[in-house]
Amino acid sequence: MKQSLNEKMNKSPLAGLGAVVMAAGLGKRMKSKLAKVLHSVAGRPMVLYAVDLARQLASEHVAVVVGYQGKEVRTAIEASGSHAPVMVVEQTQQLGTGHAVQQARDLFKRLGKTLSTYLILNGDTPLLQPATLQALLRLHQDEQAAVTLLTATPDDPTGYGRVVRGRDGRVQKIVEDRDATGAEKQIHEINVGTYVTDGPFLFDALDKLQPRNAQGEYYLTDIVALAVERGLRVSALAVHEAAEGMGINTREQLAAAEQTIRRRICAHWMQEGVTLRNPATTSIDADVAIGRDTVIHPDVTLEGRTIIGEDCIIRSQTRISDSTLGHRVVVQDHCVIRDSRLEDDAAVGPFAHLRPGAVLRRASKVGNFVEMKKAELGEGSKANHLSYLGDATIGKGVNIGAGTITCNYDGHKKHETVIGDDVFVGSDTQFVAPVTIGKGAVIAAGATITADVPPDTLAIARAPQVNRPGWASRRRALAAESGKSEVRGSRLEVGSVESRMKQPRTSHPVPRTPKGVKTRKRTRG
Ligand code: UD1
Ligand code: CA
Repeated sequence: MKQSLNEKMNKSPLAGLGAVVMAAGLGKRMKSKLAKVLHSVAGRPMVLYAVDLARQLASEHVAVVVGYQGKEVRTAIEASGSHAPVMVVEQTQQLGTGHAVQQARDLFKRLGKTLSTYLILNGDTPLLQPATLQALLRLHQDEQAAVTLLTATPDDPTGYGRVVRGRDGRVQKIVEDRDATGAEKQIHEINVGTYVTDGPFLFDALDKLQPRNAQGEYYLTDIVALAVERGLRVSALAVHEAAEGMGINTREQLAAAEQTIRRRICAHWMQEGVTLRNPATTSIDADVAIGRDTVIHPDVTLEGRTIIGEDCIIRSQTRISDSTLGHRVVVQDHCVIRDSRLEDDAAVGPFAHLRPGAVLRRASKVGNFVEMKKAELGEGSKANHLSYLGDATIGKGVNIGAGTITCNYDGHKKHETVIGDDVFVGSDTQFVAPVTIGKGAVIAAGATITADVPPDTLAIARAPQVNRPGWASRRRALAAESGKSEVRGSRLEVGSVESRMKQPRTSHPVPRTPKGVKTRKRTRG
């Protein structure tokens, strides 16, 4: 039986495989302040696609060459969450792709073992698939080549290095677009920028490179002609789909790559049992995970490291970033959920904003126009309408009435609101934090709570109501009178009418001015 690729990979000579990812360039054609390889494709810095492929194939023998914004590139790799470490080397001056690979030589020397084969990847080719690289490595081995390169035949080869073949069909050299003759520019077969090379040959050939070309750079691609000159074998593998070999040099290519990867991601999750009502408008980042039988409606964006459980429903116009949703969670339309955790059976929206640190415990519910930040809503608790809950811990079975606000900020510091289990919060309540509400307490509607409320206590914190019988009809009468004499049809000023009304009887005694307190005399106009 034929050896499977994995079996092969775990044995020599592939055990002696090293990989180099070139990621030092600025990427002028992007016209960006950001290094090209840091531009994101489906939510991940572009360079990580090449780094991950390299890690898969060469495990810890991966060198990444950084330069422009090297610190940031290094940080992006370290933050990628993969356990396999990579070696990073700096190319202080970007003198070309050949010069870039040369920088990695010392790293590999320091490993103290000789690697027989190297895989070299451009940092700007994120659509490459692992199976293609495995096939490239296999071909390299089978043909015992010095160099094996990946080629593609796109409709428009402009900008790429062209693969020049001899009459016998064998690869002779690679000519860069800027150095190509008119005839060479007609060649549609291009160099993808992915190579497998023999170890000893590689570094020897790199020493021989000369910057004799339009850009005055040390071209890695010149090792192909060098191998041919020495009578060594050069092999080439064509990618199945030209798109896979696309290098990202411009924003248009970036957008095209984004589309392709997003399509692949959607296809993957549908294969895994997720329903996407309209994959064309579903945007799922590369690091997102989704459980079976979850239904995602059109125009949903799932970003970062979001994890969604099984049997969830995510309705339209919703964005979820770096959040974890349990099973059977329902997110209605128009929600923004960031850095939050929603346990099983939680329900959110429509129009809810869960900011970093929101935690919705099992079967809790957050309704329309509710904003939460660094706040936990306990099991089965509800905040159904128009509320702000920030820096708050809310227990189980709590009802948060419409229009509740935690006043968490005093202008200098943030303060906490703690609400015990089974508390009932009436509508339009403000909690002036820090404040603690005991288990089972009831807050009467319209309260401004400034002091702790003990358990099982009713708290009322609002001005007593004043009823003035007959007041309204007297006002109407006065208004009619003044309407005749004053500006006809103009809007009534309640204050002016009121000031002319006698103080009526009230259901509550009207507070009198204490003796000795001067009041302003009412002037008559
Ligand atoms: C390169 C190839 C070209 C191929 C194309 C495929 C060379 C000379 N040309 O051209 O044949 O068709 O890729 O996309 O290799 N980099 C460094 N240090 C440098 C220069 C570049 O690390 O000094 C890195 C870049 O960050 C990038 C990669 O190497 O990730 C490729 O460089 P780029 O300038 O994009 O090369 P192309 O002109 O596209
Ligand atoms: Ca490129």
